[in-house]
Amino acid sequence: MTYDLGNEEMSIRTTEVRRLSPEDWALFRDVRLEALAESPDAFSSTLEREQAYDEEHWRDWMRPERGLKAVARAGETAVGLVGGWLPEDRGGAVELYSMWVSPAARERGVGALLVEEVVAWAAAEGHPVVELWVVDGNDQAERLYARSGFTMTGETQPHPNDPGLRERLMIRPLDS
Ligand SMILES: CC(C)(COP(=O)(O)OP(=O)(O)OC[C@H]1O[C@@H](n2cnc3c(N)ncnc32)[C@H](O)[C@@H]1OP(=O)(O)O)[C@@H](O)C(=O)NCCC(=O)NCCS
Repeated sequence: MTYDLGNEEMSIRTTEVRRLSPEDWALFRDVRLEALAESPDAFSSTLEREQAYDEEHWRDWMRPERGLKAVARAGETAVGLVGGWLPEDRGGAVELYSMWVSPAARERGVGALLVEEVVAWAAAEGHPVVELWVVDGNDQAERLYARSGFTMTGETQPHPNDPGLRERLMIRPLDS
């Protein structure tokens, strides 16, 4: 199956968020690689590393036990991606990761839709909190998360790809 990742005019009115299932592994791969290529500093992985993953690796990543993946689509065009997973050492908190909106679709609320998809999934699964790491200086992402109800915790860690940069932890507690 092929997916159009082009950047033709698109409207928020036609944008929908769709949760991915294991058979969508190639779509997840394509959008994830597009995100890593377009925004190399925003993620804790690299295009070079993930281009080397084989089909088995992508399929393994799509197993339901490894959490949620969702794409935003404007018609047939994938315009955004997000994931949510459960790190073992975070006391049941869901971590939102792989947040990306294609440049042509930004500033229309697509990012906010993707955040809400992870929050809805985490709440339905009974998790107490959603957290995420944002690279210091990624003001656009930080504003999106703040508007979506996340606050800074003060916890930081070095960026895995660049020890000169720090990532900051933001959290959004969920109603029980
Ligand atoms: C960060 C990112 C996901 C934001 O996505 P987005 O879809 O543009 O986010 P939103 O549309 O929800 O909000 C962005 C801006 O558009 C504005 N906006 C939202 N809906 C709007 C609408 N309907 N009309 C006009 N403006 C709108 C928001 O107010 C916001 O403005 P601000 O940044 O000045 O506060 C996107 O820029 C991106 O993919 N960046 C590269 C990767 C990245 O940094 N990922 C995050 C890793 S932690």
